[in-house]
Amino acid sequence: MREYRITGGRPLAGQLTVQGAKNSALPILAATVLAEGESVIHNCPRLSDVSATLDILSLLGCRVSQEGNTVRVDASTLRENCVPDRLMGELRSSVTFLGALLSRCGGAELSYPGGCQLGPRPIDLHLMALRLLGAQVLEEGGRLICRSPEEMRGQELCLSIPSVGATENAMLAAVGCRGVTTIVGAAREPEIEDLQTFLRAMGAEVEGAGSSVIRIVGGKELRPAQHTVMGDRMAAATYLCAAGAAGGCIALSGVETSHLTAVLSVLEEAGADIHTGERTISMACTAPLCGVRPVRTAPHPGFPTDAQAPLMAALSCGTGTTMFVENMFLSRYGHVGELARMGAEIQVDGRVAVVTGRRLHGASVRGRDLRGTAALVVAALAARGESRVSGVPYLLRGYENLEGDLRALGAQIQLV
Ligand code: UD1
Repeated sequence: MREYRITGGRPLAGQLTVQGAKNSALPILAATVLAEGESVIHNCPRLSDVSATLDILSLLGCRVSQEGNTVRVDASTLRENCVPDRLMGELRSSVTFLGALLSRCGGAELSYPGGCQLGPRPIDLHLMALRLLGAQVLEEGGRLICRSPEEMRGQELCLSIPSVGATENAMLAAVGCRGVTTIVGAAREPEIEDLQTFLRAMGAEVEGAGSSVIRIVGGKELRPAQHTVMGDRMAAATYLCAAGAAGGCIALSGVETSHLTAVLSVLEEAGADIHTGERTISMACTAPLCGVRPVRTAPHPGFPTDAQAPLMAALSCGTGTTMFVENMFLSRYGHVGELARMGAEIQVDGRVAVVTGRRLHGASVRGRDLRGTAALVVAALAARGESRVSGVPYLLRGYENLEGDLRALGAQIQLV
């Protein structure tokens, strides 16, 4: 089994260009099936979740190639609309193929998606939106069989929760519907704006992404397009938390500062000295981070649930007390028990975790999900002595080169 060996206690210093965003690249890759011809996606991170998505596209009949961070998908040869269980189980965002395939071929067959285990992750809102647009959705033996016996028509869709995936699925289905679809209560995450930019480049009429109302005029002729994926705000947040934990001074480029407002304001409150340009962030930490006011995860522009674990790790090796409230997922404290093995003092009661900062020591710890494993790496960078962090496959889902990036910043980290 592969694991990271990390010797903590070295401050980080240097500059990094942040990778393309996983959560943006995946739905955009699914969207390439909407038009016949070759779409070209730049700044696509090399991640196992991206490879699994490319495998799905190949299986559907698309011609796929990847060179560095550029992916080409030619969907002229699409001949299938079934995604096998094995690939659906690899990642959560495989579910966005539902909306995309319904739009392109009027039908799709797939199973419930996989992804990190963060508690129940239903897709009822996705299915509700597709049904309202006119799709028939049957659930048979764990498979979802979607058909549109008649032409799908635009509708007003109200999402009771601003679900990122359901918003993306509804957008992808709506571009193939006749007439206007309005998504009310849409998720406002920047990745949804990135999807809108790609859909527009394909010729779709979409507006409002980034706000809670998205309007789509469906039925437009779509063509393949080129797109550059936005920078990954979650990878950026992880590196900032790493520098917060280990101390030092780092500069990040390639990510929109405005996408990180909530994270930056918490780090500043904890004592980090932060300077930002439009697409650059520099952060210096000369003393351990201190406790901050309660951190409550919320849909964008609130504090992102994906940054909760890395921030908790950073504050657990600082000073003072901080309360976290995880409002997005029921089971997103899998990292807490492992941080405790490194000496962290964290009390959990349901959705609430109270962290009291103290000096951590190295230990052998096991990651159980993507951001939770990143949190263990963050803590290990600050801990006294050597840590062994397993859960490498989780990290490969979301970080293109975590080990190389941290080593470039001066960390003592090795994949063995
Ligand atoms: C996406 C991100 C994930 C991030 C999450 C919240 C991707 C690939 N993943 O996940 O990294 O942590 O947004 O920002 O983009 N819900 C329902 N019914 C549904 C759909 C969702 O009840 O049909 C609930 C979920 O259980 C959860 C909440 O809505 O409590 C938010 O989930 P959602 O925004 O859909 O997250 P994902 O799209 O799965």
